Parts: sequence; structure tokens; C-alpha cells
Amino acid sequence: MGAYEFVDHDHDVVVVGAGGSGLRATLGMAEHGLRTACITKVFPTRSHTVAAQGGIAASLGNMGEDHWHWHLYDTVKGSDWLGDVDAMEYLAQEAPKAVYELEHYGVPFSRTEDGKIYQRPFGGHTTQFGEGSPVQRTCAAADRTGHAILHTLYGQSLKQKAEFYIEYFAIDLIMSEDGACQGVLAWNLDDGTIHRFRAKIVVLATGGYGRAYFSATSAHTCTGDGNGMVARAGLPLQDMEFVQFHPTGIYGAGVLITEGARGEGGYLTNSEGERFMERYAPTYKDLASRDVVSRCMTLEIREGRGVGGEKDHLYLYLNHLPPDVLAERLPGISESAKIFAGVDVTREPIPVLPTVHYNMGGIPTNYWGEALNPAADDPDAIQPGLMAVGEAGCASVHGANRLGSNSLIDLVVFGRAAAIRASKIVDPRESPPDLNLSSVEASMDRFDRIRYADGSASTAELRLEMQKSMQRDAAVFRSDATLAQGVKRMTEIASQMADLKTVDRSLIWNSDLMESLELDNLVPNAMATIVSAEARKESRGAHAQEDYPDRDDGNWRKHTLAWVDGPEVRLEYRPVHTETLTSPSEGGIDLEKIAPKARVY
Ligand code: FUM
Repeated sequence: MGAYEFVDHDHDVVVVGAGGSGLRATLGMAEHGLRTACITKVFPTRSHTVAAQGGIAASLGNMGEDHWHWHLYDTVKGSDWLGDVDAMEYLAQEAPKAVYELEHYGVPFSRTEDGKIYQRPFGGHTTQFGEGSPVQRTCAAADRTGHAILHTLYGQSLKQKAEFYIEYFAIDLIMSEDGACQGVLAWNLDDGTIHRFRAKIVVLATGGYGRAYFSATSAHTCTGDGNGMVARAGLPLQDMEFVQFHPTGIYGAGVLITEGARGEGGYLTNSEGERFMERYAPTYKDLASRDVVSRCMTLEIREGRGVGGEKDHLYLYLNHLPPDVLAERLPGISESAKIFAGVDVTREPIPVLPTVHYNMGGIPTNYWGEALNPAADDPDAIQPGLMAVGEAGCASVHGANRLGSNSLIDLVVFGRAAAIRASKIVDPRESPPDLNLSSVEASMDRFDRIRYADGSASTAELRLEMQKSMQRDAAVFRSDATLAQGVKRMTEIASQMADLKTVDRSLIWNSDLMESLELDNLVPNAMATIVSAEARKESRGAHAQEDYPDRDDGNWRKHTLAWVDGPEVRLEYRPVHTETLTSPSEGGIDLEKIAPKARVY
């Protein structure tokens, strides 16, 4: 076993993760005068936000009439009435402010002829509370919006003197005897040293866990590390059964083709050359929300109308669009289609397939980003010392299904909100509490168990088994049978973690150890997902349960909470927030406008 010396650090706030939400939180905290550290396992501008293409939603109204009430309505409907209304209202109302701040920080948005931020249509974004035409609400920097935002936020964070710990892998939260978060333990991948970060608040901005699945648009780094740390700290994960499949991953490669492609006029066809979305969603067609389009595509394939030798995918046509639109608005995906599908988009369709893209579930929080540790008598109880933002968090603004371009806005609105809140609750003059050394010891014992693991199952084997099981058993459509099989398989895989084998015992650039720690994070994410999905006996948003095809608000309009301990998962539920923050007399939306109803596009 290793004998470790620790390098100690003291900060007001430690942010784990340097994607869009982590950097926005880091920047905001530093601007508020808090001594802020950002720990990240990859160089900040390599975080997965860099891959976000189509844009960021905000009701600026640059391309036609828009209103934050309409954005709120679309988000509520998109969530299939599982999102928390207070958080969704905060998102829709703060979005324009957050986007203009980005503009002022220097994000190079595409422009209209008269110099305003360019906005494009995206699925599920409408006018007149779903009664009007699609709206152009998604602000874009060509099809490289995430890239533009990430680089700008990193530069601004450096300007504010935030301290970056780059290529540090966060091992675990450090928890006090009475359950408060006191900091985080991290491994410097480059020199092998182990670091104890003491902080008054830890902000988890660690992204999603797409890599629990076999085919995902997410980077290989998306391993749900924050969720894994939270599960090990004895805290719950929320709504993990809701996993979003993006309609247009490139067939085979899984690489994203932005929904902006359909926003600019692209359309899907089946083997008969039919624009099949007209049949399923007569009003919004290819711009229906993502869960709907992914299900329709899956049905087309199932019913034998897929394209290609194995009739197992569909086509996305863009070649009718003017070449200058492709060059100006969609240069990135034109390149991706060439590299990953060998397709020239000006002449041929792109072969596409629904691909895992986003996790609606995560660490439960309120709309200030404060993590929750719900109790029976207080479902909104705040977990001291911990926040979570971005895809790792579950505020919950996306409920059972996220609308495209509501992710980037979630990152910046809630990264910013966490900073506002931290500036009110953190006193820079106070020193952080003394670390609970037994928490550190328990985490280093786990680190060592993995570093010196000498069982018979390799990390690569177990990871592949998990990915295949999740892909097969918790897919676009699920049933009692597939989910029961998935729970059985995943329970076996989680148990096999005790029989893990690693081979490299070193501490410097040890990718065997890092991938094993990542797998140890992915497994609780997968367990929470499959067990929560098996328990939910209805269909809602991304959870399409074929044995229970209808949404059941009476029994299931509630959030799932999952506590994971190895192969064991305990479930409980907490109520959805159904009240707005602002009354109609103060300019808020009328609750009747967002009352549950059938979800048709
Ligand atoms: O299609 C896209 O560009 C993805 C956007 C999103 O997930 O928000």
C-alpha cells in the first residue's frame, strides 16, 4: 500500500470541472472576491463543452417576436412536466442577461445583418405557448458555440486570478463527521502528488456520464466523476432514469451532428425517401423535441424502413441548403460528416442514428446550485458545503427531457447563480474547518484498493460489459423485461468491481489507474440509472416504457432519488416544485398556461 504525503491548499471555493458551468462558476466566484480554485482533469478548453455545437437558448427576440414566458412554457412541456417550475422560471428569465454577459465577456457570436446576435430555430422552441410557429431562440457562434464560450470563459477566469489546477483528478469529497462537505482530495496526474483542498464550498461541475453507454456523443472523459463522489459520500442522485438520445449522431462513430442542421432546414428521411417526421409531428416535424424525434426514428428502423445494408439507420439531408449557409452556419458539422462518414454534405445525406447525448438526472440542487440532501420531513434540505452545476447537477430544469440549446444556457445561468449565492454565504475572513482525517483515510484506502487491485476482471472488460448492457437494456425504448435484465446485469458488474485487476502501480500519467477510478465513478451512475428506470412504471420524456406507454401524473409526477452503495440501490421520491417564483401581477406566468396536458408537437 502507498504511504502518501499530502500537499495542502486552502480556498474559499473549489470548483471541480472546467466546462461551461465550472468556468462560469469559477469566473463569478473570483469576480465576487472569493479565493477560487478550479480543479480539472483535462485542460480547461478541452472540456466537453467545447463540443457543443448548435447554440444557447435565450428569448432575445432578435429574429422575430419572443418572450421568456414562451421559453418557460416550452421548457416545461419539453420536460414532460417533471422539471421544477421555480428553476425553469429562473432559467428562462435570467437567460437573456446571461447571454448578454457572455457577449460582453467576448464570445464571438454569429451576427445578423444589423449586428445583433444571430439566433436559429431548435427543436421544441415555439411561439405563443406552443400554438405559433417555431421560434429562432438559439444564439449561435456558427456551429461551434461551446468552443467559443469555453475559450472566452477561461480567458476571463484567468483575468480574475482564479487559480487552476490542471490535469488533477478529483478522487473524493472530504466529509466532516457530521456530514458537511469540507473539501476535495485530488491526484496530480502529471507528478503523482496527492492534494487536499480545504474549502468552504465545493462546486461539482463534472458533467454527465454518457460513457456509461456504448455509443455516445459525449467525450471519453464524461464519466460522471462528481456523481460518483456524491454517491460514495452517502448522498442521493436524482432522476437518473432520464437519459437523452440525440436524434443525429453519425452512424457508427456517434459523433454529433447538431440539431442546428435541422434548424437551418435539414430534414430526415427513411428508406422510402419519405420525410417521416411529417407523419408523427405534423406541426413541428423535424423540429419536434428530441425524445420525440429519437423515438420516431427508432420506430422507422424497427418497422423496416431504415437505410443502408442493414436498414439500421436513417438519412439527414442538407444538400438542398445553399452552400454559403452550410459554409457560414454549419462549417463544423460539414467537416465532421466528411471525416466520420466520408460524406460531402453539399451532395449526399448524412447517415444518422439516435445516440446517447445528455443526462437529465444528477445531483439534486435548488436553483442556486446548492446540493440537496432530502429528508422525509424536508425534501429540500440543503447539503452543507456542496454545490453542483451543469450536467452534473439536477436543479431540475430539464425534468424528463431537455430541449436542445437549453444545456448551454443551463451551464451559464446556474454557474452564475452559484457564484451569486456563494458570495452571500461564504465569509472570506473565516478560515475553513479542520479536515476530517478519517474521511481522507477512507478515500485513500479506496484509491489504494484500485491502484493495487489484483483480481481477474480488467477495467476494459468490465467497462465494455457495462456499456453494452446499458445500451441494450436502457435504450430509447425500455420494457419491464429489458430493465429487469439490465438490473441483473449491472448488479453483477457492480459486484465484479471487487474483483478488478489493474496492472500499472505507478502514479505518474497512469492511465490504467485513472480509467479504473473513472469506471468506479461510472458504475454507480449506471446502477442508479437502471434501477430508477426499472422502478418508474410510466412513460415520460426520455423514459419510454413500452409496458406503461402513458404518462401517469397521479402516481409518477415526482423525482426519483437513488442512494447507491456498490451493487445496492435504495430509492425514494420527492415532490416536483410546481409553484412559480413570480406572480402574474409581478410579470410572472399564469400557472394555468403551464398546467400538465398531452404533449404533442
Ligand atoms: O444539437 C446540438 O447542437 C446540441 C445541442 C444541445 O444538446 O443543447
